[in-house]
Amino acid sequence: MDIEQTLEQMTLAGKADLCSGADFWRTKPIERLGIESIMMSDGPSGLRKQAGDGDHMGINESIPAVCFPAPVAIASSFDPALARTVGETMGRECQAEGLAMLLSPGMNIKRTPLCGRSFEYYSEDPYLTGQMGVATVQGIQSQGAASCVKHFAANNQEKMRMAGDSVVDERTLHEIYLSAFETVVKEARPRSVMCAYNRVNGTFMAENRELLTDVLRDKWGFDGFVVTDWGAVKNQVKGIQAGLDLEMPGGSKAGRNRILAALEDESLTEAELDDTVRRLLTMIDQSVRQQKTGVAFDREADYAIARDAARECAVLLKNDNDILPLDDKGKIAFIGSFAERPRYQGSGSSHINSARVSSALSAVQDLDVHFAQGYTAAESKTDQMLLAEAVELARQSEAAVIFVGLPDRFETEGVDRKTLDMPDNQITLIETVAKAQPKTVVVLHHGAPITMPWADKVPAILEMYLSGDGVGEATVDLLFGRSNPSGRLAETFPLSLTDTPAFLNTPDAKGRVEYREGIFVGYRYYDIREMDVLYPFGHGLSYTHFEYTSLKFDKARLDDTQTLSVSVTVKNIGHRTGKEVVQLYVKPVDSQVSRPVRELKGFAKIELQPGETRQVTFRIDKMAFAYYEPLLRDWHVESGDYTIEIGSSSRDIRLDGTVSVTSTVRIPVVFTRYSMMGEILKTPVGQRMAEQMQAQRGDEGSSDVDALGEGASGMAEAMKQELPLEALISYGVMTEEQLDGLLAALQQNS
Ligand code: BGC
Repeated sequence: MDIEQTLEQMTLAGKADLCSGADFWRTKPIERLGIESIMMSDGPSGLRKQAGDGDHMGINESIPAVCFPAPVAIASSFDPALARTVGETMGRECQAEGLAMLLSPGMNIKRTPLCGRSFEYYSEDPYLTGQMGVATVQGIQSQGAASCVKHFAANNQEKMRMAGDSVVDERTLHEIYLSAFETVVKEARPRSVMCAYNRVNGTFMAENRELLTDVLRDKWGFDGFVVTDWGAVKNQVKGIQAGLDLEMPGGSKAGRNRILAALEDESLTEAELDDTVRRLLTMIDQSVRQQKTGVAFDREADYAIARDAARECAVLLKNDNDILPLDDKGKIAFIGSFAERPRYQGSGSSHINSARVSSALSAVQDLDVHFAQGYTAAESKTDQMLLAEAVELARQSEAAVIFVGLPDRFETEGVDRKTLDMPDNQITLIETVAKAQPKTVVVLHHGAPITMPWADKVPAILEMYLSGDGVGEATVDLLFGRSNPSGRLAETFPLSLTDTPAFLNTPDAKGRVEYREGIFVGYRYYDIREMDVLYPFGHGLSYTHFEYTSLKFDKARLDDTQTLSVSVTVKNIGHRTGKEVVQLYVKPVDSQVSRPVRELKGFAKIELQPGETRQVTFRIDKMAFAYYEPLLRDWHVESGDYTIEIGSSSRDIRLDGTVSVTSTVRIPVVFTRYSMMGEILKTPVGQRMAEQMQAQRGDEGSSDVDALGEGASGMAEAMKQELPLEALISYGVMTEEQLDGLLAALQQNS
């Protein structure tokens, strides 16, 4: 399509029409000009293509499809190649189903584990979220389908999600909440971004020019189109002026009429509308050109991909005395309703109509496994009969595996959780069975951190999260050692809800929530407060062990335009083939700004045979050392030393070494009469002033500051550093005129 020519041929009404969808999932066609309608669907765990009645909460039927592991599980694989494969598979399915765009991935940071959509997001860490997002978008788009990354931005809880206001300082916003979007936009070029329902710092995202245009398009170079979350539009004219393109779902004429009225009264110019329409036409044109024919949705093949992915995502949280893997010759008890009917996906708009799901029970037909239901998933109260049956079976078996987690109703889009606790009946089941059978393994199915008051009472815990259609087969493969667990937690499991970073900063009655914990989210918070946690970020065990040696850097000093190569040697020192996730954290040694203790800046997943050794090399750059500096409105590296930590988790650091990094950028300093002496004395002008004052004091005797006494000279020195410049006037050291002169000199030389 010739976009400019088409634009010229469009009527104003036609242009206004195109800015809202035709129905729940489609854009409007304009037959006269050959503009086709394109279709989109959720995301992010598979296709939720609705052929009949549409809805945005996963209520009405969608086509039979394949459910892949939820994003929380995909992130736990710490394997971008796997995320890419899943993305490619979904992209292919889109082509087979005539879908131009998949509403995936969700890139929001897990600020609180209570968020009802935690399962749909990757991680508490922006770097990991960014890497997983890049791989997923590249996978989807490699097939010609468009990826729509969501929900931009600071959409971190469900409470009052359509009206809430996330109040976030600039540094936190960029460093924590925008950073993964920035990475994905720059590195994977998604063709679409979905703006969130909520406000950010008082302005609805659908009307937030600062974020939709100044940051997303102008700063990051986004050249795709922005679609609203379903029903997020308030005033479409303001939206268009802010950088919004498409209102979804469609069906109402309100937006169109408002646009036409605004053109009429000249509060909207045709040029402004054209920018939006141009982006929409480009998207439609690209989609039509990339649409392939003859692509089949091979549900069996894609199920196998989902199952293989599920194995890679599981996290072995605990394995005392190597109780796992289980011997597949013995009599084993499978206990718990989830063994028969697993929980494998979350509720809401991501809900997939699975064509086939495997349960753990259906995957052990050839083994001596016996089943007891143990509890009713829909209840929280213990059913004594089910409990007694389960205990009896556990007693008669060589080992017991209990399948528990959170019931559906605990985790869903639109509602936040109120507690991190599991239902009482499941806790009682674990505790009672563990007393009867010392070889008790707990398998978990849920989408976000839970408390585990029972963790010390069982020797092994396997975290399966919500791992999609292949959940049962994958679980059994891992339990019996046909596969070796290799996932790592992409989020911290805290000891209690009251420990969590955002615990004190929750939405008020109007949905306004101040992100007062700032950049200290997830492990950044637990580490700086030196708190114990249940399981730390990056944690996950294997049936083998790895040894780390020979940490090397290609240079000891660098500036922020250079890259640093970091290599380390890893050896499988156990008896099974296994995969290790080598994690690289960066830790400022001595910083003038508030920084987290450590931040993940690299990771690599490698497979090693027993006895095999491999060198892993990371290449890190400015972004590994930088923080977001509001004075520069940009990322900035503070000159100084940084420790590079290599570990198997954020709390299992095996090797470290220090490099020195120099900044090539100076932060402009503004001096005022309230600037501290400490800051001023660091400048040449300040030093000269100090010398002059010293000489003067030599002539005139001591000042009030010096009168603090000889013995207290250390304290006096410290106090001087903390004195505001203007105090020198009260102390009679300087006149107003001299102070003005000094400020002018400081400013001139800064
Ligand atoms: C969700 C989006 C989803 C859309 C369409 C909204 O309620 O927030 O993530 O893509 O519905 O179903």
